[in-house]
Amino acid sequence: MTQEFKQTSPIQDPSVIHEIQALRDELHRHNYLYYALDNPEIPDAEYDRLLRRLQALEAENPELLSADSPSLKVGSAPLDAFTQVAHKLPMLSLDNAFSDEEMLDFNKRVIDRLNNSLKNSELDNTTKEAFESLEYVCEPKLDGIAVSLLYAEGVLVMGVTRGDGTTGEDITANVRTVGSIPLRLTGDDIPSELEVRGEIYMPKAAFEKVNKAALKNGDKPFVNPRNAAAGSLRQLDSKITAKRSLEMCAYSVGIVEGIKEGVNFPETHEKILVKLSEWGFRINQEMRAVTGINACATYYNKLSEKRDGLPYEIDGIVYKVNSISLQKTLGFISRAPRWAIARKFPAQEEMTQLLGIEFQVGRTGAITPVARLEPVFVGGVTVSNATLHNQDEVKRLDARVGDTVIIRRAGDVIPQIVSVVLSRRPEQTDALCFPESCPVCDSPIVQVPGEVVLRCSGGLICGAQVKEAIKHFASRKAMDIDGLGDKLVEQLVDEKLIKSVVDLYHLDVEAVASLERMGKKSAENLLAAIETSKATSFARFIYSLGIREVGEATARNLAQYFGDINSLLASDEETLVVINDIGPIVARFIVDFISQESNQLLIKQLLEHGVNWPEVKKQSDDDDSNELPLVDKTYVLSGSLFSLTRDQAKEKLQALGATVTGSVSKKTDYLVAGPGAGSKLTKAESLSVPVLDEDQLLALFDEYT
Ligand code: IVH
Repeated sequence: MTQEFKQTSPIQDPSVIHEIQALRDELHRHNYLYYALDNPEIPDAEYDRLLRRLQALEAENPELLSADSPSLKVGSAPLDAFTQVAHKLPMLSLDNAFSDEEMLDFNKRVIDRLNNSLKNSELDNTTKEAFESLEYVCEPKLDGIAVSLLYAEGVLVMGVTRGDGTTGEDITANVRTVGSIPLRLTGDDIPSELEVRGEIYMPKAAFEKVNKAALKNGDKPFVNPRNAAAGSLRQLDSKITAKRSLEMCAYSVGIVEGIKEGVNFPETHEKILVKLSEWGFRINQEMRAVTGINACATYYNKLSEKRDGLPYEIDGIVYKVNSISLQKTLGFISRAPRWAIARKFPAQEEMTQLLGIEFQVGRTGAITPVARLEPVFVGGVTVSNATLHNQDEVKRLDARVGDTVIIRRAGDVIPQIVSVVLSRRPEQTDALCFPESCPVCDSPIVQVPGEVVLRCSGGLICGAQVKEAIKHFASRKAMDIDGLGDKLVEQLVDEKLIKSVVDLYHLDVEAVASLERMGKKSAENLLAAIETSKATSFARFIYSLGIREVGEATARNLAQYFGDINSLLASDEETLVVINDIGPIVARFIVDFISQESNQLLIKQLLEHGVNWPEVKKQSDDDDSNELPLVDKTYVLSGSLFSLTRDQAKEKLQALGATVTGSVSKKTDYLVAGPGAGSKLTKAESLSVPVLDEDQLLALFDEYT
């Protein structure tokens, strides 16, 4: 242990002891509600007040400090060095699979081996049954740092890094500061000695925040959330760790000794995780038990799609045989279990050569430096360009033509240059200079005070801005002009057939047909698509205008609020900021746009050409919430959902008028239960509250939306 907690003074004011105990109990309960149940009961400010009161009392009575005091969550005295600790049970690693074939091989190995044991009559009846319906638990492979946590009589006494798997470092003070690591477990069935293993990671949002702060202070930013988590945990001063918003997700148990009499320890991995969540750990909401290897592939595909939207980085999926008795039968080979495998996603970082840098002009004139790269396969696609964002990023990276650079492409995210491999920089290189005039129209480049971005001042004189505005206008979520892709827009502008979006509506079939790679038929199709696009919605029309910072959601809010174009054109900043999602900056952009005569004329001309939409019911006309289908209905959500998060489900239910509460009572109309639903499900069943599964919930959404 890194810190000793002794009760030295026998003379204590009982009321102080009592208050400290009551505060600790209350803070433990709020930690549990917040981290394990995702269901906080009090605002953060109130939690902080309770914590400060506890800290003050402990500061006055240091002899009353204890190993499980919630005050340790803010960090304790710095250490001189980390102590080495041997793991009682080694912390193993996982074998990797990189393809479906390798997954099939894994499954075959599992089945062959179990068949062998079956032949040799080594399996008891329960194990045989488990083998018949071979279940795998699928979990995201979190990209963080593995940790082992030891609990004695339910109190956290030690946290150790994985190290080399045999020996790790004592990081007890640091792990105590991690919000989702319980200092004291909840429940009356906790083994007297329990080791919980899991991953400590930094959520994407926290990573961005830490790096923003690092850049502001002139410090070197972290390369990825995993390095940030590692760097934050390896702090001798745990007060620094406490500030880094780390999270921990439990994924298995190690040592389990002293199970209480009459308690049966769970027999499947899934049930162990659910138990860990009951005791106060955060477990992964995406965890699922499935039957058979094909279902594992389905899970992989679904999670790959969800990956970018997850609040944390994952680098693959871990599959584990669910039955613990089957796991025991399968055993281990060298340093990895035979019953588990990590299916890795394609590498997201690769090295390549920076061939050149070009400056692109966007719809709003923003100048973006784009790196031309020696093509490289990364994140599942071949990448030959990467954005360098803006001047600040260029300065930070100092990437030069000829450099070897590390490229990262995560999912659908635009490829980025993460860093330059300085040791491979050629001898003669020049730092990158920004141009002073627009590379397309030669207008001066300007920088608005307070903005990082440089912009071409040419507006609609600038061919690049015109092209981008038309591309945006025609895009799927805007006017949705079928067949009018980026290339065709460029041709139409370059051949001077159009100068603005209005010109689309008096295009001539012959002229379009004469363009390269076009014929009469495709020209006619294009004109028909332009004609069809005239029947649109008010929200799409607003979005298609390309007002800065007005995305689809804001356009929808504007359409609903104003109902018609004239009211929108007559609005001012004071009116606009009242609308959902619109702050003073966006309001300023909207007013800038609508006050320009050229824009008013453009809108007028589009309407004259027949752009139209059905009448919009203004928000104020339909705020009678009785019309919502689920009004008067109370829902409770429990366990994990697969295709959406609990918060998203909650928002959707609320949008349909339902009340969503945290606990099941007689007043609950429905419980929505996913895997790991636990005590709420038991309660719902005992009160005969109807229970919906995820499919039924989705059907409900389909019915009403
Ligand atoms: S199970 C014997 N489950 O991946 C099984 N590991 O090489 C041991 N990891 O460093 C690990 N997410 O920290 C398991 N859901 C998950 C995981 C996970 C991330 C890490 C683990 C270890 C590495 C495996």
